[in-house]
Amino acid sequence: MVMKTITRVLLVAGLAFGTTGIANAKDAPKTLMGASGQALADTCAGCHGTDGSSGGPGTPSIGGLSKAYIVDLMKGFKSGDIPSTIMGRIAKGYNADEIGKLAVFFSGQKFAAAKQKFDATKVAAGKKSHEKYCEKCHADGGVNIEDDTGRLAGQWSPYVKESIAAFMSGARPMTRKMKKRMKKLHAKGGDAAFEELMAYYASQQ
Ligand code: HEC
Ligand code: HEC
Repeated sequence: MVMKTITRVLLVAGLAFGTTGIANAKDAPKTLMGASGQALADTCAGCHGTDGSSGGPGTPSIGGLSKAYIVDLMKGFKSGDIPSTIMGRIAKGYNADEIGKLAVFFSGQKFAAAKQKFDATKVAAGKKSHEKYCEKCHADGGVNIEDDTGRLAGQWSPYVKESIAAFMSGARPMTRKMKKRMKKLHAKGGDAAFEELMAYYASQQ
């Protein structure tokens, strides 16, 4: 058990970048047996930031997402039901109890909207599409996460774009109702409509 935990921490720290990884490896003993959510979250900090607000476009922010959404995503990454570049390997290192603690910790943090560039000429059209096709479940312009939907407003655009591509290709499962609306919007506006949505979400800073 102890060895397994240390191996996991080293493995995950090795995936993180540079000095943060070293700091995490040094902290390994703290995360033995009965580790708190905060201690477990140390291993996520190299990529997602200490409070879940990611500083780089390649990694989504996870602070302030709903607990149920974080648990669902971690389980989906772990089983492979949700495609990922990195999280599948990471999620495999955590059991249900630890995933629950991580979710409590990150859902208790504040979401920080990404400071990112966007095409201002596309924002109005994106807002219009959002209101017609997405607002019902992603309320308040994609800010509201009460329906355990994940956050659209202020999330890093490359990640939102990847998620949409995975949904549209069928690689990531989505609810029947969301699928219907995504298909409808795509039939009407094509990929350009998704680009407009992305500009709208990124404009909310
Ligand atoms: C090496 C970098 C890295 C580390 C370490 C890492 N993540 Fe991730 N995380 C990512 C990337 C990149 C994604 C996007 C999915 C993918 O491609 O793997 C992601 C996606 C996620 C998502 C989905 C967010 C959303 O809005 O859909 C959650 C939840 C998450 N990570 C939780 C965690 C937790 C909890 C930890 C620590 C146990 C962790 N991550 C450690 C890079 C990392
Ligand atoms: C009927 C409710 C519903 C509608 C309508 C809906 N969604 Fe969703 N959406 C969800 C739920 C629930 C989730 C989270 C669970 C999942 O991954 O399927 C989600 C997740 C997402 C995610 C993943 C977030 C992340 O961090 O990875 C994206 C992107 C998304 N929706 C985009 C859209 C867009 C764009 C529209 C409008 C074209 C839309 N949704 C309409 C319910 C809905």
